Amino acid sequence: MLSTIKKPIEQELVAFKEYFKSQFKSEVPLLNSALCYIGEASGKMMRPMLVMLVAKAVSEVCNKTYAAASAMEMLHTASLLHDDVIDESDKRRGRPSVNVKFNNNVAVLTGDFLFSQSLNNAAMTGDCRVVSELAELGKSLARGEILQIELQQNGLFSEENYLKVISHKTASLFICSCVCGVYTAGGSEELVARFAQFGENVGLCFQIKDDIFDYFCGDIGKPTGSDMREGKITLPAIYVLRESANPLLVPIREKLKKGEFLDEKDIESLIRISIEEGGIDYAKNRIEYYRSQALSSLPDDIPSGLRDAFVAYLEYTISRSK
Ligand code: IPE
Ligand code: IPE
Ligand code: MG
Ligand code: MG
Repeated sequence: MLSTIKKPIEQELVAFKEYFKSQFKSEVPLLNSALCYIGEASGKMMRPMLVMLVAKAVSEVCNKTYAAASAMEMLHTASLLHDDVIDESDKRRGRPSVNVKFNNNVAVLTGDFLFSQSLNNAAMTGDCRVVSELAELGKSLARGEILQIELQQNGLFSEENYLKVISHKTASLFICSCVCGVYTAGGSEELVARFAQFGENVGLCFQIKDDIFDYFCGDIGKPTGSDMREGKITLPAIYVLRESANPLLVPIREKLKKGEFLDEKDIESLIRISIEEGGIDYAKNRIEYYRSQALSSLPDDIPSGLRDAFVAYLEYTISRSK
């Protein structure tokens, strides 16, 4: 699947990675150490691959495309640094997160540095629309994260609210990747709209899938449950909290309504009930729905190798194991 995604942009991806990594350095030694540490373990590069695939589908990958792709991955990386501080996570990309390896202050400030570097990359496209898209994206990520806190504090767990959060904090990145891909390749507004819709639906699939991981065994041999520990109630649990008459859920609903955090016993029950009473199946059905929406959003006249890559990208989002 990954090879089908990469095939149309193989050389471009190599060039991109080199360019992207070259920016992870500074003359300030501590910042340099943090940047090198981040640069050593790269992510899956989902967002830059999307920028490049879209640009290629529209016309060609050019220097502007590399700059936009780099802006996207940079903003994504910055948001992960901040996210791990907020979530008090100790692991990222299979290694200690920057907040643990260094500390919270270093993680926040390195995140700030990368945010600005992201806008710098956006400016390098020479296209104000790209700069504006990235600035709006930064706002959207912050909105999503803050909305998530607000909903937790007020115990407002509904599917509608969940979708709002994941649209802001996750789908927005995929939409922006598509839009910037079209802009850098000189595509029409019609193409912007179609690919943006593809990006949105892929993004929703991506986060729902990511949220399902939390219900199953991680490295430690039991469900991680870390989202619930952070106060995040995701789609499988939202479904059973709404639909199930299981008496074990009564006190859990009460706690959540009051904005209280769940204890380990509650988390264990809520995970088990989500699995046994259709929560996971429901989430998988919703993924299936967004998957079909994504497929029908793709423009009709994409060259076949590229169409295969978009389909593989979508399938990978849904069936990935990390
Ligand atoms: C992680 O995104 C954040 C979420 C939206 C769940 P990725 O899974 O794309 O992270 P990396 O970049 O590959 O590490
Ligand atoms: C990821 O959110 C960060 C953003 C999308 C901004 P989560 O907190 O849900 O994801 P992970 O599990 O830490 O990657
Ligand atoms: Mg997190
Ligand atoms: Mg988070």
